[in-house]
Amino acid sequence: MGEHVLDVYLDEDHAARELRADVRAGLTADPRWTPPKWFYDARGSELFEEITRLPEYYPTRTESAILAERAGAVARLTEAKTLIELGSGSSEKTRLLLDALVGHGTLGAFVPLDVSASALRAAVTALTGAYPGLSVRGVVGDMTEHLRHLPDGDNRLIAFLGGTIGNLIPAERTVFLSSLRSVLHEGEWLLLGADLVKDPAVLVPAYDDAAGVTAAFNRNVLYVINRELGADFDPLAFQHVARWNPDHEWIEMRLRSIRDQRVGIPALDLDLAFAAGEELRTEISAKFRRDGLTGELDAAGFAVRQWWTDPRGWFSVTLAQAR
Ligand code: SAH
Ligand code: AVI
Repeated sequence: MGEHVLDVYLDEDHAARELRADVRAGLTADPRWTPPKWFYDARGSELFEEITRLPEYYPTRTESAILAERAGAVARLTEAKTLIELGSGSSEKTRLLLDALVGHGTLGAFVPLDVSASALRAAVTALTGAYPGLSVRGVVGDMTEHLRHLPDGDNRLIAFLGGTIGNLIPAERTVFLSSLRSVLHEGEWLLLGADLVKDPAVLVPAYDDAAGVTAAFNRNVLYVINRELGADFDPLAFQHVARWNPDHEWIEMRLRSIRDQRVGIPALDLDLAFAAGEELRTEISAKFRRDGLTGELDAAGFAVRQWWTDPRGWFSVTLAQAR
């Protein structure tokens, strides 16, 4: 597949500069943190796909079931001409929406956006083959920075699935929802997948699976920093931790140093000491309640038109309209 079907706004230089700035800020802070978008190099994207198939990881299959039931309603209510997908990854579940919108006869274009060029390239290739009449054009970009590069139009539907909204910290989420609203015209649509608060006995294993795939995904950020910045993290000297934070109602993924150790990051001229037991926060995955999420959408300028969930009430798909 040629690059002409991928528009690149996050090129390697830009990504390298951002990684350096993020790693410097996060690893010199107290407590230390790294932003989750750096999990997703080619290996990280593959590990995420493996996570979606784990028995403990309910979000993907639960959201798929909701979409299978509701995609027809999405097509009838929105009559979308363009489907834009943020953090699209493999776009596997999105096929349910594409089938319904193509079947309804309104859809002309699909625009997936992701930071992971490898995941996007594979998705665009597969979807171009599967939907020959559809224009499929991928955008390699950061959804918190590059929304303005999305194609303008009328009757666009932005899908943001998987619960990835929960990986933004609350302050980022507020800014992000407002910027999403500002790229849409009144009457255009947002389809938002969000994971819901539930028993920690279900939540924690979803982020700490028996096969250790989530642990490998978590440690992948250290491999990325080693490769890109010449650092000498020993990833296996950090233990995967997934913890439910009941005050914030989010899962926190952390990497805990199993011993006193030093890590050099030559590209940043840093030499860091990690004490045994010290934890680096690598991700939050917020879980939502209906009132909270609809309130946030309302505050950002969206009117909630539909709230769909599964029989156990584990995951939600909200259809909202820019007002
Ligand atoms: N939507 C898919 C994939 C979810 S995984 C699903 O529901 O299964 C999260 C995806 O978001 C990954 O593909 C990752 O590369 C992408 N991502 C993470 N941070 C991002 C950012 N800031 N901008 C754009 N994409 C991002
Ligand atoms: C992409 N995102 C919604 C996933 C989640 O569940 O928060 C990322 C993930 N982290 C660990 N497992 C999956």
